[in-house]
Amino acid sequence: MPVPDLVPAKGDDTSPPVHVAIIMDGNGRWAAARGLPRAEGHRRGVEALRKTVRASSDLGIQYLTIFSFSAENWTRPAQEINDLMTLVKRFVRDDLADLHKSGVRIRIIGDRTGLDSEITGLIAHAEMLTRENRKCTLCVAFNYGSRQEIARAARKLAEDSVSGNIDPSQIDAELLEAQLDTAGIPDPDLVIRTSGEQRLSNFLLWQAAYAEFVFMPIYWPDFDRAALEEAIEEFHRRERRFGGVNARAGN
Ligand code: FPP
Repeated sequence: MPVPDLVPAKGDDTSPPVHVAIIMDGNGRWAAARGLPRAEGHRRGVEALRKTVRASSDLGIQYLTIFSFSAENWTRPAQEINDLMTLVKRFVRDDLADLHKSGVRIRIIGDRTGLDSEITGLIAHAEMLTRENRKCTLCVAFNYGSRQEIARAARKLAEDSVSGNIDPSQIDAELLEAQLDTAGIPDPDLVIRTSGEQRLSNFLLWQAAYAEFVFMPIYWPDFDRAALEEAIEEFHRRERRFGGVNARAGN
């Protein structure tokens, strides 16, 4: 009979999750509840993001991934897309120097083909400037869709098979993972979604296979260090088994 893998029991481990991923949802509803334009919700969302990056770094979280613009967000009205692009550009321009000084490495995941050259230029510059930083990694999912990412990885493996670089029989989870945008980044331990919605919306479908999910009933602009700590406390109450059994209880 196969012996099940043992995994460490939870409950006595108070170290922060290595990788936290966040679906920053509810900017529009936050604004609507106050009679403000959606753009104001997004602007306040960037402020919440700044606080969250700082708090994550202080708490010793090594990787923070944020869903900033999905591959599906292009269906929003042109004005809103324009507002979001302006905020992203402004964020890089205004915050990059501080992030760099604080030891934050920037990684961007998502499809870069067809993006405005100003955005791709800023992205490349941010990644290049911060590539040696090790305090923590801010991974920004931009024009990102998980199914599209997996399809791109599969296409690359198919191309490598056709060109004879790999034998199709070698293809396994590890080889596919190495072609994902997140190659080299550990899987998220904790995925947080604000606004009360309880779904993944095409975010890190592969990578979140063993993540713990915490859905919070607050809108993203209200997210802060206290909310992050609350999510981490909830994470610590969970028992992670990764398909194995609890090492202490044996069940
Ligand atoms: C979800 O709220 C949020 C987004 C689609 C975008 C999140 C973007 C930011 C916080 C700012 C830009 C990012 C960077 C990296 C500077 P929603 O509009 O879907 O809210 P709703 O569901 O209440 O309408």
